Amino acid sequence: MSSEEYAIEITNLIKMYGELAAVNDISFKVKKGEIFALLGPNGAGKTTTVEIFEGIRKATSGQLKVFSLDVSKRSDLKKIQLLIGTLPQEFSTHENLTVIENLRFWGRMYHSYLPPEDLIKLLNLEDKTKEKFKNLSGGLKRRVGIAIALINDPDLVVLDEPTTGLDPRARRESWAVIKDLKAKGKTIFLTTHYMMEAQVLADRVAIIHKGKIRDIGTPTELIDKYGGENKIIVRCSNQDSRDQVHAILFEHGPMENEDGDIVISAKKGAISSVVDVLNEKKISYTDIISQRPTLEDVFLSLTGETLLSTGQGDVVSTKSS
Ligand SMILES: Nc1ncnc2c1ncn2[C@@H]1O[C@H](COP(=O)(O)OP(=O)(O)O)[C@@H](O)[C@H]1O
Ligand SMILES: [Mg+2]
Repeated sequence: MSSEEYAIEITNLIKMYGELAAVNDISFKVKKGEIFALLGPNGAGKTTTVEIFEGIRKATSGQLKVFSLDVSKRSDLKKIQLLIGTLPQEFSTHENLTVIENLRFWGRMYHSYLPPEDLIKLLNLEDKTKEKFKNLSGGLKRRVGIAIALINDPDLVVLDEPTTGLDPRARRESWAVIKDLKAKGKTIFLTTHYMMEAQVLADRVAIIHKGKIRDIGTPTELIDKYGGENKIIVRCSNQDSRDQVHAILFEHGPMENEDGDIVISAKKGAISSVVDVLNEKKISYTDIISQRPTLEDVFLSLTGETLLSTGQGDVVSTKSS
């Protein structure tokens, strides 16, 4: 692909804080129009990376281009900032202004801006137009944040942990909004420590851990490469059948999960032979499920650690771009 097909090109980026390499020689490219997720736990270097390509923090070394413009050149950076819309990780805005007043406030920072009414409609905030920001739920505040990120009609939307601390329903609503933005032709750069978020939304995922990118690919590519075998889960209604299933699947090293289901690792297609053998021996079960590995398994296999999802509450400060 030629350079103009990329929204972001980062080459050998390093960011040192004293002795700490917060970002340790990472390179990646984000294609125009895709949803690209940087997936990693707290402290991995996600926000540092984002704030460097937005021109808020300075790199120790490395080359960064956004829409083929050079982040290190002052004149280019001004143009870049007009092409990006950001939802910072710690987003807040004027507490005592209403939703529409906040949008007008941020709009006036730009030479031209989208009609706030259109953004309110796009984000399904019609009921909240005249509500003060401080009275909104965490999920709605974050949605106002996305509306503000879109006020300058940016080509690239950068969302730093857009759903951290939201309840599952608000999270799913945010996912729908983000998919909608992609359908409108925006490029989305997303950071997250929720593997489901990356799996559901991202066209491509970069796994970041301790300042290093471990690999990049589509969720399917990463799962095929590192996820290991499928799991087969056998659910039984009583302990007798459970013991029998254990005995029959003995060679597969059956384990029980928290729900008392029996779980084995097995190659693709193995579910039919498990069903056959249980039927043949007339062992009763209530369900058999085949489960693909997830990005969580990928992360575990790449780093030896789990992606801990600490659902921290909403944190606040002001929009930083
Ligand atoms: N201004 C700073 N000074 C010193 N260390 C920092 C600073 N900002 C971030 N760090 C450290 O850099 C690492 C990466 O942080 P960050 O980019 O915020 O990670 P993430 O967004 O993935 O949680 C962490 O160890 C963090 O403590
Ligand atoms: Mg962060």
